[in-house]
Amino acid sequence: MKVLGIESSCDECAAAVVEDGKKILSNVVATQIPFHAAYAGVVPEIASRKHTEWIYTVVKEALDKAGLDPGGVEGVAVSSRPGLLGSLIVGLSFAKAFAWAGNIPFIAVDHMLAHLYASRLKAGTAGETDPPAYPFLGLLVSGGHSIICRADDFDDITILGAAIDDAAGEAFDKVARHYGFGYPGGAVIDRLAQSGDPDAFRFPVPSLHKGGRRYDVSYSGLKNAVINQLEQFRIRPSRGGETEKADIAASFQKTAVEILLRGLFNAAEDTGLASVVAGGGVAANSYLRARLAERKDLRCFFPPPDLCGDNGAMIAGIGGRFLERGDRSPLSATASARVTEFKKKYP
Ligand code: KG4
Ligand code: ZN
Repeated sequence: MKVLGIESSCDECAAAVVEDGKKILSNVVATQIPFHAAYAGVVPEIASRKHTEWIYTVVKEALDKAGLDPGGVEGVAVSSRPGLLGSLIVGLSFAKAFAWAGNIPFIAVDHMLAHLYASRLKAGTAGETDPPAYPFLGLLVSGGHSIICRADDFDDITILGAAIDDAAGEAFDKVARHYGFGYPGGAVIDRLAQSGDPDAFRFPVPSLHKGGRRYDVSYSGLKNAVINQLEQFRIRPSRGGETEKADIAASFQKTAVEILLRGLFNAAEDTGLASVVAGGGVAANSYLRARLAERKDLRCFFPPPDLCGDNGAMIAGIGGRFLERGDRSPLSATASARVTEFKKKYP
């Protein structure tokens, strides 16, 4: 089944065609980064307007690259939650109209579930490692969410822990914004950190786990400590040069990753699950990948970097699995800013 997937939850306007929930036939991502960079963050109104301007062209390009005309599409999937409401509504409305016009099945899917599914997609290239079988631990880290979960199937996850305040990607973005490193912050900090000393600054790791919240994560303390360090540089202007910038980036990144890994390793220990699948923009982080590779007792799977960030292929992929099973969403389906269906459970 050839499924068109549409993704417009934040600042990437994306569409893809995936066959049988697995094989990527096309994957087009039009990023709005240059339009938000001047504000060092996503401006929701600009995002919605750009999606409205671009969505037709992006979908058309995805169909062209897949060698399909609209009549060749057998199902439509769209990201309808969580995300920026105005942005989600653009993709959702376009997807519904496309499905109605073609009289083809339609499904609205959860963006975070799709991030986890990204690991199961193939671009048709040989020599890839297959992702682990279910069940496994999921590490879902994006600009809006940090989730440690148990995945029993593509549509069956149990959230073990989550961010109690800022998400991991949000902390990267906010630190980068305060230091003027550039936008979006995650990739910039990852790059800067390559030449920095991760032990130059000692930043706090929250002690949530002592209170029994063994899988939750918190980033507001770290974010504030790193931002406060900037004030120290301002007081002593002799400091704060290029070396300090790289050191700040490396020290922040190290602590940010340790916070995530602490929760994840606790979950691995308590559940006995030895496979980990990562997803979301922060899963592209090189330090996170390197640290997880050190754990020889865990099998860790990362999607390729272009499938970590927002893309239409993950939506078309998981959408295809739902549609093949006979699941359908009504054409009255609406968007939601939040994750709606996963209940948090502690074992
Ligand atoms: O999944 P995503 O593309 O969009 C959301 O669903 O939010 O994630 C975007 C987030 C941003 O916060 C961005 O700074 C972060 O992923 N990110 C990174 C890296 N690349 C992107 N964070 C850390 N290291 C990276 N290399
Ligand atoms: Zn995302």
